Amino acid sequence: MTVIKKVSFVLATIVVIGCGQKIIKPKAVFSQKDILETRVDSILKLMTLEEKIGQLNQYNGFWEITGPTPKEGQAAKKYADLKNGLVGSMLNVKGVKDVRALQKIAVEETRLGIPLIFGFDVIHGFKTISPIPLAEAASWDLAEIKKSAAIAAEEAASVGLNWTFAPMVDISRDARWGRVMEGAGEDPYLGSQIAIARVQGFQGDDLTARNTILACAKHFAAYGFSESGRDYNTVDVGESTLQNVIFPPFKAAVDAGVRTFMNSFNELNGIPATGNKYLQRDILKDDWKFDGFVVSDWGSINEMIAHGYAKDSKQAAEIAINAGSDMDMESSAYVEYLSALVKEGKVKESTIDDAARRILRVKFELGLFDNPYLYCDENYEKETVGKAAFQEGVLEMAKKSIVLLKNEKELLPLKKSGQKIVVIGALANDKTSPLGSWRIAADDNSAVSLLEGLQNYKGNQLTYVKGADLTEGRTQFIWETKINTTDKSGFAEAMAAAKTADVVIMSLGEHGLQSGEGRSRTDIGLPGVQQELLEEVYKVNPNIVLVLNNGRPLAIPWADAHIPAIVEAWQLGTQSGNAIAQVLYGDYNPSGKLPMTFPRNVGQVPIYYNYKNTGRPVMNEPESVFWSHYIDEKNTPLYPFGYGLSYTQFEYSNMELSQKYFSDDGSIEVSVNVKNTGKYTGKEVVQLYIRDLFASITRPVLELKGFEMIELQPNQTKKVSFIINKKTIEFFTANSKWEAESGDFKVFLGGSSAKTLEADFQYKNN
Ligand code: NOJ
Repeated sequence: MTVIKKVSFVLATIVVIGCGQKIIKPKAVFSQKDILETRVDSILKLMTLEEKIGQLNQYNGFWEITGPTPKEGQAAKKYADLKNGLVGSMLNVKGVKDVRALQKIAVEETRLGIPLIFGFDVIHGFKTISPIPLAEAASWDLAEIKKSAAIAAEEAASVGLNWTFAPMVDISRDARWGRVMEGAGEDPYLGSQIAIARVQGFQGDDLTARNTILACAKHFAAYGFSESGRDYNTVDVGESTLQNVIFPPFKAAVDAGVRTFMNSFNELNGIPATGNKYLQRDILKDDWKFDGFVVSDWGSINEMIAHGYAKDSKQAAEIAINAGSDMDMESSAYVEYLSALVKEGKVKESTIDDAARRILRVKFELGLFDNPYLYCDENYEKETVGKAAFQEGVLEMAKKSIVLLKNEKELLPLKKSGQKIVVIGALANDKTSPLGSWRIAADDNSAVSLLEGLQNYKGNQLTYVKGADLTEGRTQFIWETKINTTDKSGFAEAMAAAKTADVVIMSLGEHGLQSGEGRSRTDIGLPGVQQELLEEVYKVNPNIVLVLNNGRPLAIPWADAHIPAIVEAWQLGTQSGNAIAQVLYGDYNPSGKLPMTFPRNVGQVPIYYNYKNTGRPVMNEPESVFWSHYIDEKNTPLYPFGYGLSYTQFEYSNMELSQKYFSDDGSIEVSVNVKNTGKYTGKEVVQLYIRDLFASITRPVLELKGFEMIELQPNQTKKVSFIINKKTIEFFTANSKWEAESGDFKVFLGGSSAKTLEADFQYKNN
């Protein structure tokens, strides 16, 4: 019997088991969900304990898959496990040829022929790379972000993948943490909206379609709160922060239908997240009713030994499975020890059944039982990877991700002719760095550099001088630690060229691999000699447009004080140079707003807009010492959350509330007029914040609760309205539940968290 026949046989059995003889019209009686559950249960009944454990085992596919069968070492063991039905999923396998080869073994050579799921870190694109997620968040454009995820899904699915380990929905307030590039920034509300957009973009409406893949909300939980911003470090946070700040984007992802979760490397209040029953069972599976599955992070089950939480790999497996971690990524702890642990009574077989059921359920939802080779079409792969529509999509996303931080002397937009423009900085001519971190499948040198983007505009005279490198040696490999260069020998040439220019464009910041996993920094200024280069060039020509490329907020107080135009251009992916050039030349009017606060210096970190007031807030007498402040730096950031300029200007007026008070299920409509008072058509993100003045648990001085992007022609005015209701003011209260408390509130409307207009309202819970 071929394996396809084996699978069909299983399905036929299911129908009998599931529907029974008395049922004449099963569809009318059973919902699709009932039928699916019956099919899952029927398969489970056929499985041995070892086969069920096999479903919980995920291996990295590092060997030459279509080469000779591995004969020794880890690869041989993995290969044997695969043939014996002891593997449920593989990661880092890409390309239809390899996926098909492995799927064939699972489907045609194992006893039950259960298909594998193939996972991959499609974080911001597969081969066609979109902006880093933090940059996309700066667009505040949920439809575009959803589209960007959908592009990534379509391209990834075409190479045989069915699962991305994204979105990362970790809130973080610490720019030192290299992985802020991978998230949506510091705010739980914006983070939740973006989590929803990304989950919907990846998963679409139909998981069985061949242009959708599974999403994975990660890292559950609190990974973004690692002490001192050092990756993998300890996390200690209280319940209010967990519930009100860290959990909301995860909960939003569950509500949006995300089918998988990944736990995290960090410990949370003394218990590693991977072995954390409170997180995975009490919150995720019980409270939030999540019925997909949880995958561990890479090797994080065994890492509980180093944490000092498990004495060996066997105990780590016991702790992790009992805590609700369903799939073991690369620890081999489940496949080695779970069977013995069940026999010893330390793990219930029902616990294994539950984990296996969750994984099988998702495999059914993907349609893999109906067609395990659905994602394995080489022609479709060829037609799809890198296609023109994807290039257009990531270009659009990239333009929208750019944030204009400063624009004096009308330096921007650039004039299109008659100008001598000198471009300085190694990043300007780099075709790899714009891909950022987490671009495993993209080819080096595949991004459009800034220089190439500028070269498309022929009217000006363009000269390029490097000035200085960022780092010594190669910067291409993810596992290399980079050393910033100290070589200033190129300065003189840069200064000589700058002297003659009408405008100098300096492309400075971080290399794409200076942020990301394992890339924490204690100095978040411009790395290497770039700050000196900037100051030297400024001495000979102050007409500088500083284009920043970075994966995290940078502390650039000198630049803010001296440089007339500053453009935050992050790492924008494959179409980076085209996007930046189009913004610099005014073919796209910048509309991005910062999703993370930019500090004045690293000593202010963690710095975020939704801080608590303290008992000693800002004092008006500057000579006073005893208030919550620094004696050597302001409390305020360099650029606040939600901030971003346009080539045009917007004026806010006529803030109105439909009433000053609401109760129970009532609401207030709050509106404002926004006028374009400048010369260009432009987009503005109108932001709504509230403040709960007193509560059973102290509340932040500001909380984002709504936003809307509008487009206005010069002189045009639009009225923008928001509804405030119970949902707007709810939080996790001292009663340990989400509820609205009666009291006094303020509401703010403006173009950033540096609020402009404000009003008061009250809520009364009858
Ligand atoms: C470790 C990272 O923390 C996680 O985000 C990623 O998905 C896995 N490695 C797999 O590459």
